[in-house]
Amino acid sequence: MIGECPQIQKLKSTIERVANTDIAILILGENGTGKEVVAQLIHYLSDRRDQVLVAVNCAAITETLLESELFGHEKGAFTDAHQAREGKFELADGGTLFLDEIGDMSLGGQAKLLRVLEEKTIVRVGGSTPIATNARVLAATNQKLAELVTEKKFREDLFFRLNVLTIELPPLRDRGDDVVLLAEFFLKGFCKKARRDQIVISASAKKKLKGHNWPGNIRELRNLMERLAYMFQGEKVEAEDLEFIISPRRADASAFDMNLTLADASKSFQRQYIQQHIERAGGNMTDAASRLGLHRSNLYRKMRQLDMDGTEEDLDES
Ligand SMILES: Nc1ncnc2c1ncn2[C@@H]1O[C@H](COP(=O)(O)OP(=O)(O)OP(=O)(O)O)[C@@H](O)[C@H]1O
Ligand SMILES: [Mg+2]
Repeated sequence: MIGECPQIQKLKSTIERVANTDIAILILGENGTGKEVVAQLIHYLSDRRDQVLVAVNCAAITETLLESELFGHEKGAFTDAHQAREGKFELADGGTLFLDEIGDMSLGGQAKLLRVLEEKTIVRVGGSTPIATNARVLAATNQKLAELVTEKKFREDLFFRLNVLTIELPPLRDRGDDVVLLAEFFLKGFCKKARRDQIVISASAKKKLKGHNWPGNIRELRNLMERLAYMFQGEKVEAEDLEFIISPRRADASAFDMNLTLADASKSFQRQYIQQHIERAGGNMTDAASRLGLHRSNLYRKMRQLDMDGTEEDLDES
């Protein structure tokens, strides 16, 4: 894990200390701060490293499906259950189960999960035989879980069960010189991949990188370095070269140009709105699309209609 700022140093030593235990760890942090990277690190530093690391995105599946995904199902448990299937808890037996986006799990799902964690056995959907599970559970979310507990959207007992230890990843904007360290690391890798000479980051550009707000955190930085490696034509990046890529926060986004027709004003609004969502998603178009309530391909279509740049499909994924 790259990083030398004090928070990260402390975090690394915590991870080394707890990796090879079975205690439940809750990994918190904004979008793109490296929660999944931490989960992998914990797994590979533990004696479970030769077993599987199974990840489940709890936000991506509906409550009913999640149950069979996690606990498996017996043949005939529901209409489409033509065959019995192991759930992720069984697959992760002896290894690590990473429950990602746990803050998005429904209350019903939470109740079932809690029971499994307490009893260390699962029962497949439509089954009755308890099956022992020895999976080490790691959970992550970018939501403020403690607040969800206060709002009664997340069960307090499950929160305490998962939160034996919390690892909180700092936002990139608070990591000082790590921004430059990570930028150079990613740029080096992408230049090599793009089969071109290394690009140097000038002092002014470093300053600009350190001053940026990084709403998409490390993912945003990584995507930016990838774009530079493929699109930047010089040998040394200056602050101005980043202008086009890092758009400055608008001082007053509510100042309208009163000379526009309603159609043009709404186009202009849509452009800005989409652009900000893409930035918040750290350049991840799938993510940005879902925040906008669109399918990814529809987002691209919309952007083309609005004459927006950056519709190259191959440069946006992390
Ligand atoms: N310390 C690190 N060193 C190198 N790359 C990193 C590091 N931390 C994160 N990354 C990279 O940044 C990107 C985002 O990391 P990751 O997916 O772990 O974040 P996340 O917190 O799980 O994000 P999300 O909230 O969107 O799920 C990935 O491409 C990952 O490889
Ligand atoms: Mg993640």
